[in-house]
Amino acid sequence: MIGRIIIMDFGSQVTELIARLIRKSGVYCELFPFNVDLNLIKNFSASGVILSGGPYSVYDKNAPQVPNLVFEMNVPILGICYGAQLLCHQLGGIVEQSEKQEFGRTEITIKDSCLLFNKLLPLGRVETVWMSHKDRITAIPPGFKSVATTPSSPFASFANEQKRIYGLLFHPEVEHTPCGNQLLRNFTYKVVGLTSSWNVASYKDQVISKIRKQVGNSKVLCGLSGGIDSLVTALLIHKAIGDQLTCIFVDNGLMRSGEAKEFNRLFRRQYNIPLITRDASEEFLNELEGIDDPEIKRKTIGELFINIFDSEASKIEGAKFLAQGTLYTDVIESLSKTNSPLITIKSHHNVGGLPNVMKMQLVEPLRELFKDEVRALGRELGIPDSLINRHPFPGPGLAIRLIGSVTREKLNILTSADAIYLDEIRKAGLYDEIWQAFVVLLPIRTVGVMGDSRTYDYVCVLRAVTASNGMTADYYKFPHEFLSRTATRIVNEVRGINRVTYDVTSKPPSTIEWE
Ligand code: XMP
Repeated sequence: MIGRIIIMDFGSQVTELIARLIRKSGVYCELFPFNVDLNLIKNFSASGVILSGGPYSVYDKNAPQVPNLVFEMNVPILGICYGAQLLCHQLGGIVEQSEKQEFGRTEITIKDSCLLFNKLLPLGRVETVWMSHKDRITAIPPGFKSVATTPSSPFASFANEQKRIYGLLFHPEVEHTPCGNQLLRNFTYKVVGLTSSWNVASYKDQVISKIRKQVGNSKVLCGLSGGIDSLVTALLIHKAIGDQLTCIFVDNGLMRSGEAKEFNRLFRRQYNIPLITRDASEEFLNELEGIDDPEIKRKTIGELFINIFDSEASKIEGAKFLAQGTLYTDVIESLSKTNSPLITIKSHHNVGGLPNVMKMQLVEPLRELFKDEVRALGRELGIPDSLINRHPFPGPGLAIRLIGSVTREKLNILTSADAIYLDEIRKAGLYDEIWQAFVVLLPIRTVGVMGDSRTYDYVCVLRAVTASNGMTADYYKFPHEFLSRTATRIVNEVRGINRVTYDVTSKPPSTIEWE
């Protein structure tokens, strides 16, 4: 059977992982916040519902609940962690605050058979799982049976097979629960009865016809950043509506060495899509003069970008639609932001962030996709691997890797050092192991000695991190020989730098970029 799954999000840090695993299994799913308009749930026509974990206790004042509608839909339900406690609480079991909290790795023993544990039998089998909960279940609802236990919980998993409702007190979605992927697949395939039918190739055809329907004969503008999201967006739209699409590339002069030119060359050579390139590097440099506050820098770049994009866009007569490479993670974030007072760490800016002032309707063909799915779609569309696997690059570019005010001189120094660093990383075959690597130029000078002369030049920092989505990151452990070889090359080849350091902080407490 072909169908789809709703994941109801109660605020766990790892809910997104559930969605990714379900999609990887070939089943389409979407995340909805627990307090979403119920009509959206009704209209989604889900074949099954997963309730995520969350930071609450069922006894908290205003603790979120499973809407009755979910039970009335009469489809299979899987509750995870807080979702399982809610099931228990709302269906007549007992959840109690516990002295002993269960966090991290623990072992479950499978005590009874059920469809969810289908491939994990025999009974008595022990599996490692990852727990993260405070309250404990002391009685399961009438009609349910205990399926698995841990040393401190007799109800690590419980089920009512007739009603097709299942609870897991642990997190199957994290990698520390090795059997988790199998449990989720058992839910979608065995319990719900779905077949694997969703993949980016089939999505591509669907989305192309959706764009055609939305846009009709109108013209569409698409801003290109040089990155993969805006490029995939443009290619999909071009496949849908051909020359009704015009792309605009604003060169802010803040990209890495040669990347703006290289991207333009590749785009023009490879694709027959109208492209307007506006070299605005002078305007950006002038506007940034004397600004050293990171937030003001970001806002200045963001605003100027919009003005320039807008002025180019106004030259295209009759353009009614604006294409953006909004990803599903952005959609989820903005949905959850509506419920939480967020602290701004940095005002992110990218081409996908054009504001409503442009009064155009949006086309967002990637808004249901995760980054790895966009990469897969990019491959499907024939985008070269060198572009697909390129490290993420921030919208404000090198301006936020150059601490203090931006000048042409410092930009040249930074670009040269950055190019050497990347060259060494590529030569060492390390590029694909690293999430992001770049040079930061500090606004301080130190004394050095070169030949027999004293130098008084800038200090730069090498930064390289591993990460899986940029939300958290660890510094990359280069061999010392690599660091010393790179430092020697930078100091010898870049006039203006006489000292190189390596940043060994993780995120948190630091961030990946320095500004
Ligand atoms: P931080 O520095 O916040 O960065 O740890 C997390 C990820 O976001 C990227 N980044 C940006 N991307 N526009 C973007 O498109 C921005 O303004 C921006 N600021 C940071 C950063 O490179 C890292 O991948």
